[in-house]
Amino acid sequence: MNVATASSTQTPAYPGASKLFQPVALGRYRLPHRIAMAPLTRSRARQPCNVPGPLNASYYAQRASAAVIISEATQVSMQGQGYAWTPGIHSLEQIEGWRLVTGAVHGVGGLIFLQLWHVGRISHPSLQPDCMLPVAPSAIRPAGEAFIENETGEGALVPFVTPRALQAEEMPYLVQQYVRGARNAMEAGFDGVEVHGANGYLLEQFICSRTNLRDDDYGRRVENRARLLLEVLDEVCELCGPDRVGVRLSPLSTFNDVADDEPEATFGYIAGKLNDYGLAYLHVINPDAAALEQGSEVGPGVRRMLDLMRETYRGTLMIAGGFGRDSAEMWLQEGRADLIAFGRKFIANPDLPERLRQSAPLNDPDPATFYGGGAKGYTDYLTLAQERGEAPRPQIDDRWR
Ligand SMILES: Cc1cc2nc3c(=O)[nH]c(=O)nc-3n(C[C@H](O)[C@H](O)[C@H](O)COP(=O)(O)O)c2cc1C
Repeated sequence: MNVATASSTQTPAYPGASKLFQPVALGRYRLPHRIAMAPLTRSRARQPCNVPGPLNASYYAQRASAAVIISEATQVSMQGQGYAWTPGIHSLEQIEGWRLVTGAVHGVGGLIFLQLWHVGRISHPSLQPDCMLPVAPSAIRPAGEAFIENETGEGALVPFVTPRALQAEEMPYLVQQYVRGARNAMEAGFDGVEVHGANGYLLEQFICSRTNLRDDDYGRRVENRARLLLEVLDEVCELCGPDRVGVRLSPLSTFNDVADDEPEATFGYIAGKLNDYGLAYLHVINPDAAALEQGSEVGPGVRRMLDLMRETYRGTLMIAGGFGRDSAEMWLQEGRADLIAFGRKFIANPDLPERLRQSAPLNDPDPATFYGGGAKGYTDYLTLAQERGEAPRPQIDDRWR
């Protein structure tokens, strides 16, 4: 008996017409439904050297019924690391570690992309090679604190420092960090990569006018502020094939102390440029997740921005941020997105697609175990089948494949 058979007596909220469970193309892949797993930093890479291991493989394999998993943000270099215990994709050991993960996910029929990450200024000398300063488009210290490992091996928060402004001559080296990360990801067996252009990290620090005060070819006009992102995409698409590359953007977000003076012009320009690439998808974070969580519509400014992204970008659009079953279904029905990515709900519900299909109750995530630690709050959330006392099993429903 498979999971679907066990639940076939339940009535879905959108009988027959659910868009969540209609197939969709994602680059070269055909996905069986539209529920993606959003990238989620969990800070559980093996130490030293930030290497994924068997625990991480179990975690991802448990969630392989997602239409596609986007891995936690993964630093492309030591310079790109900004938090203790996050995994990298720049050493042989890390490639081997990630092979365990991709093997486990593929073994149960899943699809997994790796999120390529350089944090820029959202770091600290204690995380940098030779305790150097973190790098950024401009020497502007972010508000807030970095999460590092202290002398006794525990996590600690310390104030950010003023980063070193990158020199123009260094830009090809930065692009090459992403290229090496993408090459390593392919070698580790990933099905694709997502370039992390969101959440106030390096690429968004370049994109946004308040964090980029440069007066060279990488600053001032939007064409220049978007240059690094587009150069990275040129090379990564060349390497992987554009139909295995996605990009994540977070217009209107102020996370990690970024802001842009003309967000519609900036992100409208970028969304338009992305049409030239034939990417697998564009992934946009809804900055008004709180509204959806309260069951209301996003604010008018956010609505305008998300509509702009939808109208401007002609490829497959994934949206994340605050979605539940009904809001996800509604947004798909209204054509506002092609896929919905779920973050926190996937942390607490390894079988989220099946739970959504049945309109079954969801487990609540425990924020205390989001970052760091071991199996607790990571691989011990139960599936519906386990709640019924059945042994754990692969989470792929054959009818969706
Ligand atoms: C614990 C945690 C870790 C996250 N890590 C990442 C990350 O590594 N990369 C990223 O782009 N977004 C990250 N995010 C943002 C999520 O991908 C997602 O956009 C956000 O949680 C909103 O979706 P949700 O309301 O479904 O949780 C993280 C969010 C959480 C809660």
